[in-house]
Amino acid sequence: MDNAELTALRASTIPRGVPATAPVYVAKAQNALVTDVEGREYIDFAAGIGVMNVGHCHPKVVAAVKEQAGLYSHTCFGLVGYESYLRLAEKVNRHAPGDFAKRTFFLNSGAEAVENAVKIARYATGRKSIVAFEDAFHGRTYMTLSLTSQVSPYKVGFGPYASDIYRIPYAYCYRCPLALTYPGCGCECAALLQNAFDKHVNAEDVAAVIAEPVQGEGGFIVPPAEYMGMIKRICDDHGILLIADEIQTGMGRTGKWFGMEHWDVAPDLMTTAKALGAGFPIAGVTGRQEIMDSVHPSGVGTTFGGNPVACKAGLAVFDIIETEGLLDRAVVLGDHILDRLHALQEQHPVIGDVRGVGAMVAMELVEDPITKKPAGDFAKTFRAKLYENGVVNIGAGTYHNVVRFLVPLTIEDSTLARGLDIVEQTLAQVEAAAGSAAGH
Ligand SMILES: Cc1ncc(COP(=O)(O)O)c(C=O)c1O
Repeated sequence: MDNAELTALRASTIPRGVPATAPVYVAKAQNALVTDVEGREYIDFAAGIGVMNVGHCHPKVVAAVKEQAGLYSHTCFGLVGYESYLRLAEKVNRHAPGDFAKRTFFLNSGAEAVENAVKIARYATGRKSIVAFEDAFHGRTYMTLSLTSQVSPYKVGFGPYASDIYRIPYAYCYRCPLALTYPGCGCECAALLQNAFDKHVNAEDVAAVIAEPVQGEGGFIVPPAEYMGMIKRICDDHGILLIADEIQTGMGRTGKWFGMEHWDVAPDLMTTAKALGAGFPIAGVTGRQEIMDSVHPSGVGTTFGGNPVACKAGLAVFDIIETEGLLDRAVVLGDHILDRLHALQEQHPVIGDVRGVGAMVAMELVEDPITKKPAGDFAKTFRAKLYENGVVNIGAGTYHNVVRFLVPLTIEDSTLARGLDIVEQTLAQVEAAAGSAAGH
């Protein structure tokens, strides 16, 4: 079937609520290239939402998965255990920030990991409230959707949401919630957490603050260097746990194993998913041993969590990141993308901001660089054109005006350069079309 036939089949089989960015159906994918059912090749600048950090069909992942699938594919870890689960937990514990004993267990999706981190934080502290951030994304199940900030398309129509969740602004410097400028501001926004304890919720009722080290769906919002440390200190002062949601930032994406390392913060609990299994669904909750062990036996668990095939894929991912130097590679790639985007920004005022850490880079599009009015419509047209021109891409941002660059960390230099050339050409193309539509 071709793309059009599959699009028609889709319309007659699945609900419209399932996201559909472009009418493209994959036949195969290799490293940073995706080939559709009509034989057309695309450069992958989305990596399945930051999942394919080691590239599509890495030979080590394929070999590990094939071998495991022929041995056993499921026992339920709670009924019959297997070593790969333990080895993967060992790896995550070793690489997670914090020089203390840790424990990890596995689940199936990012949302499920966040759900469990919240359960454990409440259990360990005996407190009920959770503080989350504006522009945060933590998933689409009821607790995680309650923690997620963005209303459209995620929250609209799905309430009521979980109670005892409080929200404060994040350190979004491009759109500072306090209209201040870094570094002169002294990171005043971190004090909004303390402020919440005076105005919204008793600090002694708060189990945890949950934060993405760099906000993902919010638009790759990078806080200043000292921000997370300030948040952590306020948490510590009140006996509140810090949950780092590393689902998008983890597994080498930012040039470190986990994003919090950039801020020199060791969270009490951490969630992982996405790139951990190179496309095989697996997620984890990692935390200080005493917090994780506070929960009674059988208090947490799931049928599929830590599936043996996914665990083997996860071990291969760790191996690949280590042996192929992908942490360093993420920095090189990110610097290169940032340089190209900064150069483009000089010629295209629609690029209001360029930001990122490691290979987690984004550009925020605006109608006017002074007013910073979000250019959501432009971004939508640009992204659709980018697909047409052969680049799989992904947006972000509360106002849908951010374009993310989430390339596999294994992408070849030439493929990256080709993709960035297409970005440049597409930008000019969409600007020209917008200009002629406006009669310029
Ligand atoms: C930071 C963060 N947390 C949680 C999630 C939810 O993960 P999943 O889609 O696997 O449930 C995501 C997904 O984009 C995410 O980026």
